[in-house]
Order: sequence, then structure tokens, then C-alpha cells
Amino acid sequence: MDKFRITGGRPLSGRVTVSGAKNSALPCLAAAILTPETVTLHNVPYVRDCMTQRRLLEDLGATVLVPDLRTHKITAANIELFEAPYELVKTMRASVLALGPLVARFGKAKVSLPGGCAIGTRPIDLHLEALKLLGAQVSLESGNIVARAPQGGRLVGSDVTFPKVTVTGTENLLMAATLARGTTVLRNAAREPEVEDLADLLNRMGARVRGAGTDTITIEGVEALGGAEHTIIPDRIETGTFLVAAAITGGELEVKDCRPDHLGAVTGRLREAGVEIEEVNPTTLHARRSPKGLVARDVTTEPYPDFPTDMQAQYMALLTQAAGSARVTETIFENRFMHASEMQRMGASIRVESNSTAVVEGPTGLSGARVQASDLRASASLVLAGLAARGETVIERVYHIDRGYEKIEAKLRAVGADIERLRESVTAQLPPAETLTA
Ligand code: UD1
Repeated sequence: MDKFRITGGRPLSGRVTVSGAKNSALPCLAAAILTPETVTLHNVPYVRDCMTQRRLLEDLGATVLVPDLRTHKITAANIELFEAPYELVKTMRASVLALGPLVARFGKAKVSLPGGCAIGTRPIDLHLEALKLLGAQVSLESGNIVARAPQGGRLVGSDVTFPKVTVTGTENLLMAATLARGTTVLRNAAREPEVEDLADLLNRMGARVRGAGTDTITIEGVEALGGAEHTIIPDRIETGTFLVAAAITGGELEVKDCRPDHLGAVTGRLREAGVEIEEVNPTTLHARRSPKGLVARDVTTEPYPDFPTDMQAQYMALLTQAAGSARVTETIFENRFMHASEMQRMGASIRVESNSTAVVEGPTGLSGARVQASDLRASASLVLAGLAARGETVIERVYHIDRGYEKIEAKLRAVGADIERLRESVTAQLPPAETLTA
């Protein structure tokens, strides 16, 4: 397994470019299942999760051409399999996004039930209950969820109120409803920009979706969808991670090709905590630490448009360098503080009070250590902590970060970070430490 070796303490400086949003690319790739015609997606980030989603599409029988690294042309004319198998669902939960499109177009789908994952149990009951309201029969067969459309093979439009906001649940239902007979209304829908991006693609494919980006989405079902071309929005979490990277190292970064309008809660909270952020133009932000220093400010994660859970770990890393005490409250996932103990090993003062609250005291001088990444965003927070720390940090299990950040070490190195990837094969070949010192 690859590792990162970081020598911290260098202020970053320069320009960094944001990639396409992983969490938008994943549902958009799945949406291609809805039509036999070709869907072309641009700005797909070159990250492991998108490769996994591509593999799922190919396993189903779709052809995926990748004329350049970030353009995917998907043709799902000959779907032969209607199943997202355990091997894929267990490595990437977002493969459940195949469920809605498969059952909508083919009247049947089988998706392995996702197990627990590092950041909590993450069930898909809300997806299934909503699909049932569209007439699907849902059963559990040998660890797989099997969904079938009612007689006639088409789902039926319905009024669905989600008891809790779910991003991929909203996306699954949005896709399912595009081909249903009649109109579907999704209430208490997720308002994330990625949901809106998916709706944009679906409308280009001929769907009739209104209200995406608000909590009520109306979908008038159509008989069939066609091909389309679409560019994935920039990744707002990667953007936020770079803003923190500038501030935590006491440097300054220009973050290009982003969507500042998707980051209101993040930039708002970072500004209050002493990060100077300027909108250079509608797609570029400039960030640096205020000369007065960073100050501790509480944060609570909530669904969009509030502060995203996917930025909680990175913000916690920043708080270790801020003066005072701040409370971090996680309301979305029940087990998302695994990075705290790793940061403690680097010298951070973090008290985890419960599954949902932690208190960070700062500023503390971090020192490099050997730490382990436990999930995607936790890995990013450890990279940030490593950049701010004195000495050398080695982060193990960076495959987590490869799932969702495109070439993060190359992007950070280009703006002055001392970070390198130790490849498994290389680390395996390294002579033992005693040989090196001899
Ligand atoms: C998506 C994002 C993930 C982000 C999360 C919250 C993708 C591919 N992933 O994940 O990066 O951290 O939104 O912003 O877009 N829940 C249920 N039953 C369900 C579905 C969800 O109880 O059927 C719960 C979850 O356990 C969690 C909460 O609802 O506590 C929100 O989860 P959800 O919005 O569904 O997260 P994902 O869509 O999996």
C-alpha cells in the first residue's frame, strides 16, 4: 500500500487547479444507464472511485470510451447484467447509484447490500422506501437487494417525502423517476450542487426535472431518454481543502477553476476563523492566513447549504493552529472523528467528547509522526496536518485519498509542499533501517 512522506513547515505559494467533483461524476456516470444512446461527460476527475464506477458500467455491459483522461463516453445500449456485485459495493458505496437507473429502464436491479464502513453504518433504507413508493417491489435475497418495477415494467410517479436528507438517495430517486409513468415529487430532497448537476445532465438527456437545488424536486416521467454532453462541476471539497492548505501552512494560494458560489458556508466559516479569502474572479479564489493569525470558531456539519461533513476533518486540522478552544459537532455521520486520534499523535489537543462532538484547543505545535488514513476526508486532514507539522510525517493507507483527490501530492508539490508518494513496490524494496544507517 502506498504511503505519503511529508516534511512539513513550508508555506505553500502559487496556483492550484481544482478537478471535477467526484460526487457529481459518480451519479452522472450512473445516469448513462438510463439511455441506449451515448452520454459524454467532461471534467470527470481522475480518481479511483470514478474508475470503480466505470468498471461497474462495463461489467453491466456498457461501453466506456475514454478519449482523454477526463472525458468519458458511455454507451449503455447492450446492458446484459442488472447487478452491482458485492465486490464493487463493498469498495465503493456509491455503486448503489446503479439501482435507480437499472430498475427505471429495465424494470429490475440487484444491488449488494452495503455493509458497515469506516464512517458509520450508512444504510440505504431511505432509497428503498422511496423506490417502493414508486411501485417497486423490493426484497432481500442472499445479501442482495432485489428491486422490480410493477407489472408493465415501469415505475409509477409518486409523492415522496424523505424522512432525512440523503444525497445519493435523492440522486437514485431522481434518476428512477425520469422514466416513471407520471409525475414524481421529491420532498426534503438534498440540495447539494451535485444533485443539481445531475439534474442538468438528465434534462439534457430529455428528462423533465424542475426544482433541483431546492428541497422540492418535481420530475415528469418521459418514455425514453437520449444521449447528451455535459461538463462536471468543480469539486467544492477539494477547493475547501486547498483553502485550508494555504492557511494552515501560513502561505497563500490561488485556487483556480472552482465555484465559489458552492462554498458559501465553508468560506464563511474559514473567514471567521482568520483565513483571508478573496474572490479574484467567478472561478478563482485567493486564500491566505490573516496576519493576525487564526482564531478558534465552532462548527456544526449539516446538509447543504450549511457546512459539509466532508470538510469537517480538514477544518479540525486547521483548528489545531487556531488560538482558543472550538467545538466540532458532526451531525451527519456517527463515527467520523477517526482523524482526531491520529492528529493527537502529532501533538494536537483534541478531546473527543462523544460520537458527535470534539473540542480542539490551539494553537499547538504539531510534530511529524507515522499516522494512518482511515477514510477519504480523514486522509486529507492528515496531509494538511503533516504540511503544518515540524519534521517528517508518514501517512499510511493513502489509497483512501486516491479515491477522491486527483493527484493531490503532485498538486501540492507544485505549490511548494515537500510531499512524496512511497510506492508499495518501492517501500517493499527499501533496505531495513539498520542497513541504511550502517
Ligand atoms: C454523500 C456523499 C458523501 C457525503 C454525504 C453527506 C456521494 C457519493 N457521497 O454520501 O461524500 O459525506 O453525502 O453529505 O455523494 N442515511 C440513512 N439511510 C439511507 C441513506 C442515508 O439512514 O438510506 C443516513 C446516513 O447514514 C447518514 C445520513 O443519512 O447519516 C446522510 O447520508 P447520505 O446523504 O445518504 O450520504 P451519502 O449519499 O451516502
